[in-house]
Amino acid sequence: MSLLDDVKARLNIVDVVSNYVPLTQAGRVFKARCPFHTERTPSFVVNPERGSWRCFGACAEGGDAIRFVMKMENQTFSEALRALAVRLGVPLPTPRQQAQMDPLLRANQEAMRFFQRRLQSDEGAGALAYLQDRGVAPETAEAFGLGLSPDGADELKVHLLGQGYTEEQLQRAGLVTRPQQGGSRDLFRGRLMFPIRDGDGRVVGFGGRELDGSVPKYLNTPQTPIFDKSALLWGLDAAKESIALKGEGVVVEGYMDALMAHQQGFTNVVASMGTALTDRQVSALSPLARRFVLALDMDAAGQDATMRSLKTSWANVPDVRIALLPEGKDPDELIRNAPERWPEVLEEAEPRVDFGFRLLAERFDLDTNDGRRALTEELGGWILSADEADQDRYMEKLEGLIGVNRQTLEQVLQRQRRAALDAAAGVAGRRAATRASPFDDPVEAPASAFERIDPLEAYPLALLMLDPTLREAAEGLRAEFFRRSENREVFQKWAECSTMEELKEDLDALLQEHLETLLSREIPVMDSKQRSQALAQSIRRLEERQLRELRTQLGASFSQAEAEGRDTATEEEELHRQDERFREIFSARVRRDI
Ligand code: UTP
Ligand code: MN
Repeated sequence: MSLLDDVKARLNIVDVVSNYVPLTQAGRVFKARCPFHTERTPSFVVNPERGSWRCFGACAEGGDAIRFVMKMENQTFSEALRALAVRLGVPLPTPRQQAQMDPLLRANQEAMRFFQRRLQSDEGAGALAYLQDRGVAPETAEAFGLGLSPDGADELKVHLLGQGYTEEQLQRAGLVTRPQQGGSRDLFRGRLMFPIRDGDGRVVGFGGRELDGSVPKYLNTPQTPIFDKSALLWGLDAAKESIALKGEGVVVEGYMDALMAHQQGFTNVVASMGTALTDRQVSALSPLARRFVLALDMDAAGQDATMRSLKTSWANVPDVRIALLPEGKDPDELIRNAPERWPEVLEEAEPRVDFGFRLLAERFDLDTNDGRRALTEELGGWILSADEADQDRYMEKLEGLIGVNRQTLEQVLQRQRRAALDAAAGVAGRRAATRASPFDDPVEAPASAFERIDPLEAYPLALLMLDPTLREAAEGLRAEFFRRSENREVFQKWAECSTMEELKEDLDALLQEHLETLLSREIPVMDSKQRSQALAQSIRRLEERQLRELRTQLGASFSQAEAEGRDTATEEEELHRQDERFREIFSARVRRDI
């Protein structure tokens, strides 16, 4: 986690702003007199869900908490970020810590390149044939950085030592074994290598598949300072954009499954890497979309594990569905042999309540009171939080199956909720109570302010950084379109610089780190025309978002003008301008030319 991520995860805009101006709550927002200009009626609004503030009055400005502090304290981005870190008790990384962290990332990146070269060498013939046999296109292998670890005992180690890494660093990076007699050896030997990236695209470890029947089938990087398998999802960096745009994410089990999905253009797929999903994995996914489909191995043990994770890690995600895969088929096979079936399988996925009914009707003895109560308790919360139309269907099913009507259901749940709260009270606080009682109403998906990335903003920036020829196509992009100050800063600096070298020099260390994150995003292969279209499209999306916000602001100034009995000519004019711009954007969208 970078300092920026750490600070953002703990930032509470209401706390930050109230350090400077007294706020009063007004429904879901907070209001104050704007600290940036003099006014009598409060037109400064803080929105905790979005983590943003905006002055609806004379300054007509807004942003996130960092930008607020920048303006209040007249600080640069990094100064404000550091100040906030100190206030929030987030330790600033010491130069020594940074120096320790970076070599592990660099060593993994270098190892990936080394494995890739070996795959393309004479030595790679067998592995390449294997990939071909499994229908993996060379471009897919390339895009995901697949490689081959050599058979020898320490070829990677020798290579990396030659690059100046120390043996200790290679151990800490998980690339070599613990020292045995005669020193350490390469951990991965003679395996097909799948780089594992974190959500920001940094290579943090590997999964290596055997090619000769040795065990285990996949050998993974052990726990290291930068690799924690239980917090990672394979393919997340490549999928997150698409998950956010589609509003739906799909979780499969294996590297091969996710790889094949992406190859066939189903890019919203990530792999759980074989284990039941953890809370941390789910929280990496859940802010991205409202709906998720789990396409996991559903043998009996798999079903129970899924039910457990639906009740815990997934409890607060509004819509989770379970895909029914054809008997004995991995998604990989299905997608390879019948790609047209994949969208159907997802479409036909069972909502969690239906899955629960099916599973629990088998697990519990519904002829007994205990069995009936258990079923009611397990499914009741989900039923009551389902959409209205579904709710009726589920109530009917419940009544048909065990004769429980809505009134009884509500009583049972209330009793249960109280018991869970009592049990948790005082011990672990409110959060634990929510977890212990999956029957609480699902909370809204976390607000966008808590997402680590804002794909809408990161995507056009990444494009601009990667392709210098896009400068002209970026004319319509304006700093105000960015809600996140780190993105706004990078954009503004980019506009002032003519080369990437200049830009890198111009940014201070904290923003450089953010720039690296932007640069490490994987952008699908496109020709220059497609790239400028993609850029234009995402600029338009950002402008639309900005216009919608301005529209709210305009509404506020209309009412203020009316309250003061003022003429609304200025507002009318602005309304007209906005309407024009909306129309332009929409007709361009229909013509598909931007
Ligand atoms: P699978 O056995 O389904 O692997 O395990 P797969 O991805 O479909 O691979 P192929 O098709 O046999 O080549 C699912 C996932 O579980 C993890 C890996 O992440 C794998 O992709 N796994 C499995 C391990 O980590 N170690 C193992 O020994 C086996
Ligand atoms: Mn498989």
